[in-house]
Amino acid sequence: MMLLDFNENPFDLPEEMKREIMEAAMALPLNRYRSPLRDQFVAELARYSSVDPEMIMFGNGADEIISIVISACCGPNGRVIIPDPSFSGYPSLARMANTPVELVRSLTDFAFDVDQLQERVARGPAPNEAGRGATLVFLCRPNNPTGHLYPLADVERLCEVREDALVVVDEAYYEFAGSTSHQLVDRYPNLLIMRTMSKAFSLAGVRLGYAFGQQPLVRRIDRTRPPFNTGVVSYAIGIEALKRKDHFLTLVDTIKTWREELMAELAHIEGIRPFPSHTNFILIEVGPQARQLQEDLLAKGVRIRHYGEFASLENYLRISIGTPEQNQAVLQGLRKALK
Ligand SMILES: Cc1ncc(COP(=O)(O)O)c(C=O)c1O
Repeated sequence: MMLLDFNENPFDLPEEMKREIMEAAMALPLNRYRSPLRDQFVAELARYSSVDPEMIMFGNGADEIISIVISACCGPNGRVIIPDPSFSGYPSLARMANTPVELVRSLTDFAFDVDQLQERVARGPAPNEAGRGATLVFLCRPNNPTGHLYPLADVERLCEVREDALVVVDEAYYEFAGSTSHQLVDRYPNLLIMRTMSKAFSLAGVRLGYAFGQQPLVRRIDRTRPPFNTGVVSYAIGIEALKRKDHFLTLVDTIKTWREELMAELAHIEGIRPFPSHTNFILIEVGPQARQLQEDLLAKGVRIRHYGEFASLENYLRISIGTPEQNQAVLQGLRKALK
């Protein structure tokens, strides 16, 4: 099966790197909760992210950070505001925390409706003294599943609405976009930037997500995290990967080249409209047969995503960038099904 539905990196770690990681893991006391590598991992990640170590927190994947932030800041009395469409994890994790969700439909070609978002953020109740019951807006930049990179000024406008409303900028695809909201962190105490090692660093199966922001905010959220949520072996793998960041960033460039090749070919297929992407996936508009097309490809051993959670995407499919052979299989499958 060709797995092009979860925006994973098509490159697994080289065998030699895996062996070195296993050796590093062999040296670890697995019977202990505390990891001797935690501080080193924080230091490596802080260097990579150009922030102070005190400004960083981790999660068992960015997914866990989403859950932690929602329960720390919102809970059942707060609200989560999400542009529609965006990452499906936000509404589902918010609902698990019993936090009300408000979707704000995006504009033509998926530009965020910042006026509407601003208005919704302004309307929310004030959080209590512990900071719970707050309004939180998730801004995925670049956005999953559209690939759209909206202006940094949009983030600023939302941070400005009110200091007690939290703005979480999800930069899961940061390395593919080469653009970040990092420079806003010093100015906005209500801004949290979230990233993951699942995409550019090929570590989806290891579950290493992290977030950074001003120290008081990070400290307050980090206090509510389950203890020892990131395992000792994960730290070892994270350190080894960060030491070899050039290897991964070169592969990011390769994936971007393959993305543009796939984009050019998709644009030539009648009935398909691909959207420009700053990520490792491409969204295509295919019309009402979207789900059928997804099933046709699945029958041929190619898994792509019909993104039905958001009503606005019923006629769309999302394709993660694979190897050239995998991308060709997608193209072939689509051409045949659309004939
Ligand atoms: C925008 C976005 N945020 C967060 C995640 C979750 O990442 P992780 O694997 O670190 O849990 C994903 C995964 O696809 C994603 O696309």
